[in-house]
Amino acid sequence: MAILITGGAGYIGSHTTVELLEAGYEIVSVDNFINSHPEAITRIEEITNKSFTFYELDVLDAEALNNVFAAHRIDAVIHFAGLKAVGESVQLPLKYYHTNVLSTLCLCETMERHGVFKIVFSSSATVYGAPESVPIKEDASIGATNPYGRTKQMIEEILQDLALSDPRWSISILRYFNPVGAHQSGRIGENPNGIPNNLVPYISQVAIGKLKQLNVFGSDYPTIDGTGIRDYIHVVDLAKGHIKALERIMNHAGVDVYNLGTGKGLSVLEMITSFEDVTGRRIPYALTERRPGDIAVCYADASKANRELQWSAKKDIWEMCEDTWRWQLANPSGYSKEEWEQAN
Ligand code: NAD
Ligand code: WQD
Repeated sequence: MAILITGGAGYIGSHTTVELLEAGYEIVSVDNFINSHPEAITRIEEITNKSFTFYELDVLDAEALNNVFAAHRIDAVIHFAGLKAVGESVQLPLKYYHTNVLSTLCLCETMERHGVFKIVFSSSATVYGAPESVPIKEDASIGATNPYGRTKQMIEEILQDLALSDPRWSISILRYFNPVGAHQSGRIGENPNGIPNNLVPYISQVAIGKLKQLNVFGSDYPTIDGTGIRDYIHVVDLAKGHIKALERIMNHAGVDVYNLGTGKGLSVLEMITSFEDVTGRRIPYALTERRPGDIAVCYADASKANRELQWSAKKDIWEMCEDTWRWQLANPSGYSKEEWEQAN
């Protein structure tokens, strides 16, 4: 029996595939490389010294997806595939609703047709919008403030409806906080296209000299140093959370929602200082205006995952910075095309 991973070449999907292979799972992975690179698949096999089946396909392509389910005995699905850039989703909402919502419908319809009823879904702390209080629990009110976040909210509702409609469904909705870091091998990591939107990839590109300085968005928030506070979680901890969620859905029907975060908040300035300490490089920065749509403080109450999944984040801020830096130093252009062509 195999686990199907959608978006398996992406940042979180690639790290989760490594953990699953190392835990002995058989993997079938699909991705259309809209935001990733085939080299990630090669490197997963290299890190684990294990092989798995990969198909280049769009999850919106019902026929291609159907063929995968026909060719393999899929036991459960981890659904990472989707678009994730908040700013782009404001500019191109139809693209986001189409890709994220329709691909999930297509996937769930195909699963139902093939009698597969177990799914782990990548949701996001973004569904909480501006939280009323922190740490945020899973039963806090929901209210995403951008189209990307609303796709996650809609998909969560669709999955809740599915679970209500048929007791065979077993669903785990994981709300990630701020994933950062890379595999400790330095072979896989986050590979943003163009100028990064997120803090840690941006800092890391400043440290290596690709970008001149970091703009710190807002220094007048009601926080310890005026900058925004987030719950940064190491991507390998996050990946391990998926194994725990898989184990849970193997034995529990219905739907459960879990926050995956460390439960600790760090400010932008604290993140800069940590990165400087780990790398020995100075990160030039300027304090600038708040970024529209940003919130002051966001961190998880991850006790439900701890209690029900026996999961908690283990890696601290130092490991997050060290692993990001190892990946950045070894792959200054990410999985660059030239590198891929030379190797093949
Ligand atoms: P990513 O972009 O690195 O990975 C997503 C993968 O899905 C990419 O490889 C992309 O090529 C693929 N993909 C997109 N649309 C597809 C389609 N229609 N068919 C097939 N493949 C498709 O992103 P990530 O950071 O690994 O995020 C994985 C999931 O977790 C996403 O659903 C994202 O919304 C969610 N998430 C990410 C974060 C974060 O900060 N990274 C936080 C919360 C939630
Ligand atoms: C973190 C902090 C910024 C960049 C986003 C998505 C969320 C989820 C995770 C997918 C904030 C500050 C950032 C910069 C800065 N993704 N910052 N200068 O906004 O918490 O969450 O990624 O689901 O949906 O919204 O993460 O890394 O962009 O920002 O000062 O150049 O760093 O203001 O305080 P965010 P981020």
